[in-house]
Amino acid sequence: MSDAKRPSLTPAVHGGEPSQYAHDALTAPIVQTATYTFENTAELVAYMEGRKEREEYGRYGNPTVRLVEDRVAALEGVDDAVAFSSGMAAVTSTILALVKAGEHVILFSDCYRQTRRFVGHFLGQFGVEHTMVPPADIDALEAAIRPETKLVISEAPTNPYLTVVDLPQVSELCRTKRIRTLIDSTFATPMNLNPADHGIDLIIHSATKYLGGHNDVMAGIVAGKAGLVSLVRDVRNMMGAVCDPHAAYLVHRGLKTLALRVDQQNRTAARIASELEGHPRIRRVWYPSLTSHPSHAVATRLMRGFGGVITFEVDAPMETISKFVDALQIPRIAPSLGGVESLVEQPALMSYFELSTEQREAVGIKDSLVRYSVGIEDADDLVADILAALDVIG
Ligand SMILES: Cc1ncc(COP(=O)(O)O)c(C=O)c1O
Repeated sequence: MSDAKRPSLTPAVHGGEPSQYAHDALTAPIVQTATYTFENTAELVAYMEGRKEREEYGRYGNPTVRLVEDRVAALEGVDDAVAFSSGMAAVTSTILALVKAGEHVILFSDCYRQTRRFVGHFLGQFGVEHTMVPPADIDALEAAIRPETKLVISEAPTNPYLTVVDLPQVSELCRTKRIRTLIDSTFATPMNLNPADHGIDLIIHSATKYLGGHNDVMAGIVAGKAGLVSLVRDVRNMMGAVCDPHAAYLVHRGLKTLALRVDQQNRTAARIASELEGHPRIRRVWYPSLTSHPSHAVATRLMRGFGGVITFEVDAPMETISKFVDALQIPRIAPSLGGVESLVEQPALMSYFELSTEQREAVGIKDSLVRYSVGIEDADDLVADILAALDVIG
C-alpha cells in the first residue's frame, strides 16, 4: 500500500463548512430555490460590477451545491470543484470545456463505455480527433501524442479489470508537452487516491457511486486548479447540467461517512479477492491487492486502498455463471457500484449485452466475468454467501 500519508478524515465531515449554518442548524440547509432576489437596484448594480459576491440564478450556483463542491475540493486537496447532475454530465462538460475543433484527445481504451462513446463518436462530429490507447500503456500514450493533442483522459482504477495507470508518468509526460490530464477517479475515491498529488490537472467523480454512497442519488463532480475548474463551471452554467440542491444535500450527507464506508469496502473486497483466488471454480480474480494483478505494483505505490469492486472469472459456461449469480443471497443484480448495498452483475449480460461473444472478446470482455461491488454488509456474511453460491454450481 502507498506510504503516502493517509489524508485526514475530518474534511469528509467538516470540509467547506461555514462557522454557522442558516438558522443555527447543525446540518446543511437545502436551499430549494431557482432564483435569488436583490434587495434593491443598488445591490444588483454592486453585484453586476463585481463589488458584491452573492447568488443570482439557480443555473449559476446554489449554496447547498457549493457546500458539496467545497467539501470535495478539500478531500482532493485542490483549489476548487464544480458539481453536476450526473457523472456523465461532469465528464462531457469537462471535455467540451477543454478542447475545440482541430485539437486531439487521447483516451485509455478501458474508460467508461459512455465516455468512450462521447470521445469516439460524438466529439468527432465537432472536429475533435481522438486516439484510443491500450490500458496503462505509457509507451502507446507517448507514441499517440501529436502537436495538436490537448487532453489525456484515463480512469484509475478502471472498470472492470481495475487497471491503474502510472499517474506520475502520465502527468510528467503531459506536462512537458503542455497537455492537460483528466482522471476519472470514481473507483478510487479521495480516500484511496488523490490524483492531484501525482500532478493530474482535473479529477472527476461520479458522485452517484462512493461519494453519495447510498445508491439513492445521481451527481458528478470535477475538482482541480481554480482556473481550470472555472472553465468547466462556465460550460456547466451554459449547458445547464446542474446538480439539484436536494441531490447535493444527499451527497454532502453521504460524504460524512465516506471514510468509514470505503475503509470497510477496501478491507472486505481484499478479503473476498483472496478467498476467491485459488478456489477451484474461479479461473481468475482481478483486484489490485493481489500480486497476480497486472497493476499490483503501481496501485500499491499510488493508492492507500483499492476500493470495493472485485472482478472475477468463473470457470463455467455463461448460463451456469448466471445460476451462481442468482444463487447469491446478499447482493442484488444491478448496474452501479460504491454504495452501502453489495451489487453484482455479469458484464456480458449488462453493459456489453448487445455485442456478440466475439465482439466482447475483441474489447476484452469475457463472458465468464462477474463484477461484484462490495457494500458494507458483514464481510463474513458476504464471503459465506459467495462460497455457498459457488457450491450451488458445484
Ligand atoms: C468510472 C465511471 N465514470 C463515470 C460514470 C458515469 O456516472 P453517472 O452514472 O453518475 O453519470 C460511471 C458510471 O457508471 C463510471 O463507472
